[in-house]
Amino acid sequence: MIYLLGGSGYVGNAYQQLLSRKGIPFKNLRRSDLDYANPDLLADALRRDRPAFLINAAGYTGKPNVDACELHKTECLFGNAVLPGKIAQACEAAGVPWGHVSSGCIYTGSRPDGSGFTETDRPNFTFRQDNCSFYSGTKALGEEVLAGAPSVYIWRLRIPFDHIDSPRNYLTKLMRYQRLLEATNSISQLHEFVAATFACWEKRVPFGIYNVTNPGQVTTRDVVDLIRSSGVCTKTFEFFKDESEFMHTAAKTPRSNCVMTSAKLASVGIVMTEVRDAIQQALRGWQKA
Ligand SMILES: NC(=O)c1ccc[n+]([C@@H]2O[C@H](COP(=O)([O-])OP(=O)(O)OC[C@H]3O[C@@H](n4cnc5c(N)ncnc54)[C@H](OP(=O)(O)O)[C@@H]3O)[C@@H](O)[C@H]2O)c1
Repeated sequence: MIYLLGGSGYVGNAYQQLLSRKGIPFKNLRRSDLDYANPDLLADALRRDRPAFLINAAGYTGKPNVDACELHKTECLFGNAVLPGKIAQACEAAGVPWGHVSSGCIYTGSRPDGSGFTETDRPNFTFRQDNCSFYSGTKALGEEVLAGAPSVYIWRLRIPFDHIDSPRNYLTKLMRYQRLLEATNSISQLHEFVAATFACWEKRVPFGIYNVTNPGQVTTRDVVDLIRSSGVCTKTFEFFKDESEFMHTAAKTPRSNCVMTSAKLASVGIVMTEVRDAIQQALRGWQKA
């Protein structure tokens, strides 16, 4: 049996679908059922139910986007930096291995040669550089809290998308925003992300950090071109002149745009679809809201 925290959320829901499809029994633990931020209560539940593994898809993201985190700093810090430490404490006490959904938003840009950041590159969009959004800062702190924790996977998700039209889906966001920021990113197909992360546990690959993004990188204009040529949305997409116009007119806090590599994941035999193919597949199967 698997314990799932945050299963009611956007990412957690994809885990529920995966585990149901695979016929794997799981318990979707909600904060209202059990205060899983209390390590004693969580450890007691783990000792009682003896799950083989725990997935932490709980955290604070800010709705409709990360700007909201600037207004809800306490919740954001607690959900993203304090909570992972509490879960680590409970899992260690009960001897339960686990996986934590982190984010690639702790990086900005790419390596100097233009290649993607690897798991050994130090995050460069954090409170330490003082250049980040509050959300990114708390996600980086969450990873720092887990440094050295035994038996934990840290899975970095980045700008999730899939084939279902929803305000949380990157493809929907691009279609609905009035104007777009041109940027280069590595991104993650949500259902491939959950499958790849769970495969880490199923295959018992070594614990540690994994970038879980579709291989390659795309610019916003690349994605817009794919959307237009799929026929899903053929409107004329408008762009901000530059990042400074975006920051002055549409955003409250800087965004992470970054290139990552999931080569480490591939090296343990978990290979994701090339990013353009993954976007085209999502658009081919597009389910309108
Ligand atoms: N969505 C993205 O774009 C994205 C990208 C990269 C990484 N991530 C990471 O993926 C994880 C899940 O994100 P999501 O988009 O699925 O978020 P979500 O839809 O807001 O769901 C998060 C869930 O976490 C639980 N939770 C526990 N403590 C919380 C707290 N202090 N504040 C708010 N919720 C809390 C809630 O479940 P219960 O109340 O039912 O327990 C909630 O349903 C987060 O760690 C996030 O940083 C998300």
